Amino acid sequence: MDIKKRIDELKEIIFRANREYYMLDNSIISDQEYDRYMQELMTLEEKYPEYKTNDSPTQIVGSKVLDKFAKVTHKIPMLSLGNIFNESEIINFDKRIRKEIDNPKYVCELKIDGLSVSVTYKNGILIQGATRGDGTIGEDITNNVMTIKSLPHTLNQKIDIEVRGEIYMRKDVFEKINEQRAKEGRSLLQNPRNAASGSVHQLDYNITKNRHLDCFIYHLPNPFDYDIYTHHEALEFMEKLGFVVNSNRILANNIKEVIDYINYWTENRNTLPYEIDGIVIKLDDINSQNKLGFTARTPKWATAYKFPAEIVKTRLIDIIFTVGRTGKITPNAVLEPVKIAGSTIARATLHNEDNVVYKDIRINDKVLIRKAGDVIPEVVCADKNERNGSEKKFVMIENCPICNTKLIRKEKEADYYCPNINCDARKVETIIHFAERGAMNIEGLGENVIEDLYNQGFIKKITDIYHLEKYEQELVLLEGFGPKLISNLKEGIENSKQNSLEKLIFGLGIRQVGSKTAKILARQFKDIDNLIEADYEKLNNINDIGPIIAKNIVDYFKDPQNLELISELKELGINTKYLTQESEDKEEFLNKKFVLTGTLTNITREQAQKLIENYGGSVSNSVSSKTNTLIVGENPGSKYDKAIKLNIPIWNEEEFLDKIK
Ligand code: IVH
Repeated sequence: MDIKKRIDELKEIIFRANREYYMLDNSIISDQEYDRYMQELMTLEEKYPEYKTNDSPTQIVGSKVLDKFAKVTHKIPMLSLGNIFNESEIINFDKRIRKEIDNPKYVCELKIDGLSVSVTYKNGILIQGATRGDGTIGEDITNNVMTIKSLPHTLNQKIDIEVRGEIYMRKDVFEKINEQRAKEGRSLLQNPRNAASGSVHQLDYNITKNRHLDCFIYHLPNPFDYDIYTHHEALEFMEKLGFVVNSNRILANNIKEVIDYINYWTENRNTLPYEIDGIVIKLDDINSQNKLGFTARTPKWATAYKFPAEIVKTRLIDIIFTVGRTGKITPNAVLEPVKIAGSTIARATLHNEDNVVYKDIRINDKVLIRKAGDVIPEVVCADKNERNGSEKKFVMIENCPICNTKLIRKEKEADYYCPNINCDARKVETIIHFAERGAMNIEGLGENVIEDLYNQGFIKKITDIYHLEKYEQELVLLEGFGPKLISNLKEGIENSKQNSLEKLIFGLGIRQVGSKTAKILARQFKDIDNLIEADYEKLNNINDIGPIIAKNIVDYFKDPQNLELISELKELGINTKYLTQESEDKEEFLNKKFVLTGTLTNITREQAQKLIENYGGSVSNSVSSKTNTLIVGENPGSKYDKAIKLNIPIWNEEEFLDKIK
């Protein structure tokens, strides 16, 4: 038997079956046959590893239901965009660019409200899809992206390429899914963006498939590899390869045309079959983009204009009160459900008593609701012209709605607090905050799970999280807690023990210590014990930490209950030290542009790139007059000749290794 031929045959059969199954909901072979072909291919590849390639279906498509997503490192970080909100900021963006670039042209695109994805093709075949994650490390969602019909499995050219774009859910799909869920008495998906994100994060791709997601491609990370030097050409190139690129884009010759485009779409965004939350403005010329470079998180050559918050009118049916983890009481409006910024909302915050009294917002009033992006919807004001006498004036409660303790209001503060630290609402919120993503990031321990476990008595305080495994037998019997969920939860809890200190500091929920302050504190003090010992003076002297936060920190660590919590956490094996690796800038690398050519023998190209970036430099693919240094390995390519022509400094591998020592 010609082994290579049989392997190719098997690959072809499996790819075809995948394509039909994922994209056309059609099984051309039975599950058993499919498994048999896959098994045969795996056996052959194991026996003849010389024929095993990265683009083989054995390397791409995993099992139907995954335990968790594998991690993927983005060779080129997936960056976010800076935001601007009004015309003068648009003009300033242009001014900043003009300082370095003559006559800039801009590509304007719709900012699709979904989640970004990186998709890799080898030989024209889709081999990997990955989420953005933290920009450097994302999740491998290959199985799930294969279900997206608007993302080609095979390209019109057999090339190796990575492209990036946005996965989103069309409005009509979102409505249909929610209609169905309502019929089944299940909770509704919040808005198309959350629905898309939730669908992509399903471990079972059959669920993703039923969510009918779509994808627009908008970014080519390595344009020079394909001899492309402008963004608009990159979009055309990707379109020719078979990607769906949004057609509502323009190449604007000046900032006036950009503003006209923004005005047009601000008026007409509702006519689109998908949600957009703004306009992306990108400098067209890629050499100019590289000249401008990046800040830590965002490119300087592009920005996102965000649409103003939407406002709608609805009736305020009731006012209810919620208790936060600090005991803060918030009045909330119960609304006649209304659609705003892609979601249907039935609650909005009224902030505090003074706000409601000052604006004279009454039960049964018609009220204006404002919502922008991820921000909590709020009641702006009441429409007093619509009153008919049935309205009831607001009365602030005097006792906690959960534990009935008398509320207190501190001098000069607008908020009331429940002072009872044993109030159930406060305790649940404290645990939710500890486990949430920005804090200890305990996978599997979301808001609802915590509420369930609290009500059933399994978690009454933070440290109980780390004793949960003792109750495994009982937990499996709870409704909704299958073995899979429990094993994920156990893993999430175990992983959280290795978090770096800043996650723990944020998780403790010290008043006004957000994730940014937690990072500053962790970096400064390195160990929780040093932070506990820090006095007011020392804290107040730290840049970015004001007197109020300094006092809150000192007060927190004065409380014996909090010290007890920390010592228990330590005993349970939770890390209390700063583990985050810092990047250190080196002068030879800081803000310098490097190009690599030839084979490096002691480290991989990816490692070299990472090191250069860690030291504050950047790596591009081709040599130009903007290149600061060319690093040359064995058998260098034409970049070497070009660098010599342009008189660009050259380091060999040894010199490079010497600098990074
Ligand atoms: S460009 C370096 N173009 O918006 C290039 N992003 O707020 C960065 N987005 O993370 C992205 N539509 O998820 C780009 N036409 C578009 C976009 C777009 C939506 C998302 C993307 C990005 C986020 C930034």
